Amino acid sequence: MPSAADYTEKIPNNVDLREDRRLQRALESWQPNFMHWWDAMGPALPVEDVYLRTAVNVGREGWAHFGHVAMRDYRWGIFLAERDPDRRIAFGEHKGEPAWQKVPGEYRAELQRLIVIQGDTEPASVEQQRNLGATAPSLYDLRNLFQVNVEEGRHLWAMVYLLHAYFGREGRSEAEELLHRSSGSEDAPRILGAFNEETPDWLSFFMFTYFTDRDGKYQLGTLKESGFDPLSRTCEFMLKEEAHHMFVGTTGIDRIVERTAQLTVAHDTDEVGACGGIPLDVIQKYLNFQYSVSLDLFGGETSTNVANYFTAGLKGRWSEERRRDDHQLTSESIMVDALTDDGQIGQAEVAALVGLNTDLRREYIADCQTGVTRWNRILADAGLEQRLKLPHAAFNRKVGVFAGVEATPDGALIPAQEWKRRMSEWLPTDVDKTYVRSLMRPVHERGKIAAWIAPPRNGINGKPFDYDYVHLV
Ligand SMILES: [Fe+2]
Ligand SMILES: [Fe+2]
Repeated sequence: MPSAADYTEKIPNNVDLREDRRLQRALESWQPNFMHWWDAMGPALPVEDVYLRTAVNVGREGWAHFGHVAMRDYRWGIFLAERDPDRRIAFGEHKGEPAWQKVPGEYRAELQRLIVIQGDTEPASVEQQRNLGATAPSLYDLRNLFQVNVEEGRHLWAMVYLLHAYFGREGRSEAEELLHRSSGSEDAPRILGAFNEETPDWLSFFMFTYFTDRDGKYQLGTLKESGFDPLSRTCEFMLKEEAHHMFVGTTGIDRIVERTAQLTVAHDTDEVGACGGIPLDVIQKYLNFQYSVSLDLFGGETSTNVANYFTAGLKGRWSEERRRDDHQLTSESIMVDALTDDGQIGQAEVAALVGLNTDLRREYIADCQTGVTRWNRILADAGLEQRLKLPHAAFNRKVGVFAGVEATPDGALIPAQEWKRRMSEWLPTDVDKTYVRSLMRPVHERGKIAAWIAPPRNGINGKPFDYDYVHLV
């Protein structure tokens, strides 16, 4: 049974690690470095144990086991989705050829780069969320934070496994680097911008898990299509865990919006700050920020690198196999965001291959919109007229065609000076952040919850909300 995890091993895995002593030794020598990183950069709040799910199988049913574990003893393991012996490459110039079980020499550097970039985001988010435990609004939320953290740690393991198993000495040295860079560091920052931002409060955390983990979902979705089968299988299983991270974000914002709506109605005012809630305009500003930095993660509107990745079969499109085209795109085109000659926001037609970042971003934006629709339904159900919305793609961008211009959330281009003067209307100010931080008082008591957020509808794994999800020291 290839999918069953072997938990008798030092490193739980379903890849027959014991058959490859060299690799096993290499990973076992990386393990203490990982633990050192976890101790130094992982969750700072001292806890005895946490009600966590641990992956035990990759099959559809019963893949996870739930129980209280000390986080340090979490069984970070290596799990690849089951191998389909007949799998063929679904796109690009190798379309129809059997998926690669080894790294093709000609694509070695590109594949390694893709894995390093993905790998770098996993520990980064753990670092960004390091101090949140101290201000958790409930034990239920604290548990979810830790669940996300240990799984991002496992995702790091997943990428390090690939580097060790398939990329030799260079791969091992990249695996070391993944532990040396750190989020927000001056000399060795994480590779991508959004992963160097702070996550200082729980509103940011929920926005992060909604918008930035969702970027992760889309990146993993493209790597799941890869012709390099071990990468594909790794990402397929990671996506399964990732679903919970987005659930945390979606329902976290649900519950904040719900609480804000209740307070607005009860006190007949938008100024819910006075009654301990988070005003809707502050929620909107946090949304504006996290969404715009997450759009940057998709890179420029056009990219010849990404076109090459696709043609080479390294990185596909979202739902590649469900697309109804030739999966080679040599003669198709796509409209992408562009600035016109007179400096206005417009569109330009480019070769579909070159516009693949835009294609992925489009899928992502549509998905982001579902959350906004959901939160607006909560507002409507409460009888309120205010609504949340996604800002325009040109708003607050540092990457791509809009990096050089300033735009309002509605997509009106404005001079830099006006942007400077008005950005406090659209992005969290120090006052907003200080206010949100002032609400962040820990509620570590069983069954209790902070006043700025509504309790969840359900607990975890059928347990009630007042379950002892975390035992603090
Ligand atoms: Fe992840
Ligand atoms: Fe995640």
